Amino acid sequence: MTEHPQRVAIVTGAARGIGAATALRLAADGLAVAVVDLEAAAAKETVGAIEAAGGRGLAVGADVSDAEQVTAAVERVAADLGAPTVLVNNAGVTRDNLLFRMTEQDWDTVMGVHLRGSFLMTRAVQQHMVEARWGRIVNLSSTSALGNRGQANYSAAKAGLQGFTKTLAIELGRFGITANAIAPGFSRAT
Ligand SMILES: NC(=O)c1ccc[n+]([C@@H]2O[C@H](COP(=O)([O-])OP(=O)(O)OC[C@H]3O[C@@H](n4cnc5c(N)ncnc54)[C@H](O)[C@@H]3O)[C@@H](O)[C@H]2O)c1
Repeated sequence: MTEHPQRVAIVTGAARGIGAATALRLAADGLAVAVVDLEAAAAKETVGAIEAAGGRGLAVGADVSDAEQVTAAVERVAADLGAPTVLVNNAGVTRDNLLFRMTEQDWDTVMGVHLRGSFLMTRAVQQHMVEARWGRIVNLSSTSALGNRGQANYSAAKAGLQGFTKTLAIELGRFGITANAIAPGFSRAT
């Protein structure tokens, strides 16, 4: 029987919520999972849950909208767990407000985490996927991509992620890399 090396996944924003559930599921499926989150202490809790279930994880504190932190985080994952070939761009924030009350900071923060963060993470990880001639990228969009009152910033970012995803599929498909976006409706941890 041939032994396959363990695949390595990065899930951003996996300290809690949908990201934590995704990280746990990938670990249960046999992948080593890097939990990348702004909140390093909470990321460690997700890794604790992964390890308690017999999996392998690594907590990495990083802001996905910061290019230097992203580079350092991906290098650390590659060094400690192995080359990442699965990426879930899940980290997210909301700064909801009606348009006339929405500040530039509200706009920039949401764009920074969802769009710039997904761009930076994907750019850093794709080199490992291209080298492996295999990769899986999943971007978290939302039903709000179609428009939602009080969410001009968030809906624009989530719609933008769909164009980003399609472009990744076009550019990276030839290397055995798939890119998909999923668009959940409202959900919260029970
Ligand atoms: N919960 C929903 O109803 C819902 C619906 C549709 C889409 N989504 C999307 O799914 C994803 C997860 O949603 P959730 O509700 O689980 O979110 P959540 O708020 O529970 O968790 C988001 C995580 O992202 C982390 N994060 C925020 N900014 C970051 C940054 N700059 N760098 C690194 N980590 C950062 C936070 O620390 C947090 O752990 C988001 O992209 C969200 O927009 C959520």
